[in-house]
Amino acid sequence: MIHKKKISSKIFIDGGDPSETAKAEQLLGFIDGQTTNPTLVANNPIVKKSLEKGEKFTKSEINGLYKKIIEEISAIVEWSVSIEPYADLKTSAEELLSQAVGMAEWSSKAWIKLPTTAQGLEAAKKAVANDMRVNMTLCFTQDQAAAIYAATKDAKYPVFVSPFVGRLDDRGENGMHLIENILKMYEKGDGHVMVLTASVRNFDHLMQALRLRSPIITLPFKVFEQWAGKRFMLPSDDHISVPSQLTSIPYKEISLDKHWYQYDLYHELTEAGVKRFAEDWNRLIR
Ligand code: E4P
Repeated sequence: MIHKKKISSKIFIDGGDPSETAKAEQLLGFIDGQTTNPTLVANNPIVKKSLEKGEKFTKSEINGLYKKIIEEISAIVEWSVSIEPYADLKTSAEELLSQAVGMAEWSSKAWIKLPTTAQGLEAAKKAVANDMRVNMTLCFTQDQAAAIYAATKDAKYPVFVSPFVGRLDDRGENGMHLIENILKMYEKGDGHVMVLTASVRNFDHLMQALRLRSPIITLPFKVFEQWAGKRFMLPSDDHISVPSQLTSIPYKEISLDKHWYQYDLYHELTEAGVKRFAEDWNRLIR
């Protein structure tokens, strides 16, 4: 265990299995929050078992199971649980919003994940205007993070932006540079958006995110266990990461004062990510 005050980031678990959250809570002494997504729900042991037996779910059954998973996780984490509505590339802002309203009822700790697309941002703008809490997912560029900032200026609660570091690493780009760049860009802002380091793949990502003081870091249980194995060590301020062959992502000077739709919202990994989450969700339904 480590004293909560020693860690400057909020620690989330990235997963769909409440028993992992419970184990993590026992090891660390607290867990601030959790992120879930369709792929992670598909990997929940109960869901997996049914699929292995060739049994799929109706839409209402899988929603009921997702709600139950969220309720169990909510009882363990202290502050926040992210829930992801169904979205494919055709889902409208209105559809996203109507699912978001229903899912926000599942937990008093709910943050609703919306894709960083034009429809997702349109939905986010309306959601925060209705005092809903949002986590903008599948962020891969500084421009997208600037658009999120601009679209959610009136939010009553902190807005999360989830840059996916591992998926950038996967294609040879240094995902942690994106975290560093967004944090630097947001220094000029009013602090209403919190950077949530997501798609963490390894221990070095965790050390770098802690060193950068990413406000939130979400950890797959495997990486959390590695951290526990190292007695929850913290990096020094001059922590040097493992040398990598990854291409660096340069910082861009971007104003935060434009309208959200004036920023370049496109990134191929955002579209690919929306498609993959939709496929993973559809795989569960009969
Ligand atoms: C969390 O919010 C994200 O959905 C998750 O970290 C994505 O991780 P992956 O890139 O390993 O699928």
